[in-house]
Amino acid sequence: MTAVSLSTSTAAALRADAVVVAVAKGPKGLVLAPGSEAVDEAFDGKLAEVLATVGATGADGEAVKVPAPATLKAPLVLAVGLGDVAEGGYAAEVLRKAAGVAARTLHGSKKAAFALPATEAEAVEAVALGAQLGAYTFTACRSDAANADAKTPLAEAVLVGGKRGDKAAKAAVERATVLAEEMNRARDLVNQPPNDLFPKSFADIATVAAKEHGLKIEVLDEKALTKGGFGGILGVGGGSERGPRLVKIAYTHPKAKASLAFVGKGITYDSGGISLKPAGHNETMKCDMAGAGAVFAAVVAASRLGLQVNVTGWLALAENMPSGSATRPGDVLRMYGGKTVEVLNTDAEGRLVLADAIVRAGEEKPDAIVDVATLTGAMVMALGSRTFGVIANDDEFRSTVHTLAEEAGEPAWPMPMPAHLRSGMDSTVADIANMGERMGGGLVAGLFLKEFVADGITWAHLDIAGPAFNEAAPFGYTPKGGTATAVRTLVALAEHAADGKL
Ligand code: BES
Ligand code: MN
Ligand code: ZN
Repeated sequence: MTAVSLSTSTAAALRADAVVVAVAKGPKGLVLAPGSEAVDEAFDGKLAEVLATVGATGADGEAVKVPAPATLKAPLVLAVGLGDVAEGGYAAEVLRKAAGVAARTLHGSKKAAFALPATEAEAVEAVALGAQLGAYTFTACRSDAANADAKTPLAEAVLVGGKRGDKAAKAAVERATVLAEEMNRARDLVNQPPNDLFPKSFADIATVAAKEHGLKIEVLDEKALTKGGFGGILGVGGGSERGPRLVKIAYTHPKAKASLAFVGKGITYDSGGISLKPAGHNETMKCDMAGAGAVFAAVVAASRLGLQVNVTGWLALAENMPSGSATRPGDVLRMYGGKTVEVLNTDAEGRLVLADAIVRAGEEKPDAIVDVATLTGAMVMALGSRTFGVIANDDEFRSTVHTLAEEAGEPAWPMPMPAHLRSGMDSTVADIANMGERMGGGLVAGLFLKEFVADGITWAHLDIAGPAFNEAAPFGYTPKGGTATAVRTLVALAEHAADGKL
């Protein structure tokens, strides 16, 4: 990963492959953002003019390169756009995105000086995080020869123009690095092809990480799941040659202010099962474990940040495959805790593995449960590919989660649970069916999950089916493929709880 450091030297004096400055759209055209002064001086005060000449406008997402004059130690100047000029300072997300665009554009370079408007700790953290996320690439599956030929991600980002001994800035870089490393861990898990990442191999990865970070871990295999009566996870995993797992990974703090349970949908591949998905709908279904990946990464992050909170992650891992041993549409599953579910569509499998894990998580009486899942195509229809839906059994908690998500740079939107949709899941043979009305499918799924939340426990559900996997072109600090969405929301919630605000 890109190493981020702080320097008191100016952008002009640092030996690097490129200097990054920021530009914005002013009322009368392109303006330079603060931080670019030393670079502008090297251009005799004409940097804005030079950039405008080659077409720069300051628009969000823009990246324009110009050769540097001899008075700069770096041969290249890269100007990234911030969008509309902001007199009162730029929002953290604007800086994260700009730093991400810069790191992505400088792929193949070794070292860059970042001369962005980042003097306060919050802005320093944003630039450090954006750069480390933007530089991300997934190389594990290319041959060594291909990787040797390929350009490598930006190795070093030096944030120049800092104050000497700025402890707050140093702490900001450290926090950003933990977040970036854990988000990139979650991205790696999502990008890992499903022939390599399956329930057992995921559990093994979690076990290694738990050991490294001093976390408690328990892995229930098929035998233990059978003994425990986890009918949902077993029913979904039954069609696969590679059996399901339920992983409990726990971080505890001796002075914890609250306890949280995070539950992740971990379908390592969703073929749809006997209700097989048609071609065109299954090519990206390795991403169906993104919820479990986010939960896992967030628990490790909470521990590395030493937050005063207990966080238990529950990873409900299964591969949804059709076979002679697969669950049939029409089967009735006996879930953990005793409720029965008629499976009308084996492609509505996420709610089945989550139900077991939510009941199990509730037994430990946490202050709140948050589940994270690539649950429904309907939520993608409703909110598009960059925003996740937030459903909860408590309006205030839903607002809290929504606000924390937006502040962390993760677009989210509150969604309702209209009570009338519940009867669509009435079953003629079981307590409930796993399918209801087609319209409002994301809300129906929320109503299904709510049935498995114990009375008196605050619960929220994040449907990340849209933003979990970026099939479009990279933007800001978001690459193609796994995005690590929800990691920062969960970490922010853990911080919120650690501050005694839950
Ligand atoms: N994993 C899918 C949801 C999904 C869709 C994730 C698009 C990412 C992108 C989920 O298991 C699923 O198949 N849901 C069905 C539910 C339906 C059968 C009630 C859906 O949304 O069509
Ligand atoms: Mn499915
Ligand atoms: Zn699924």
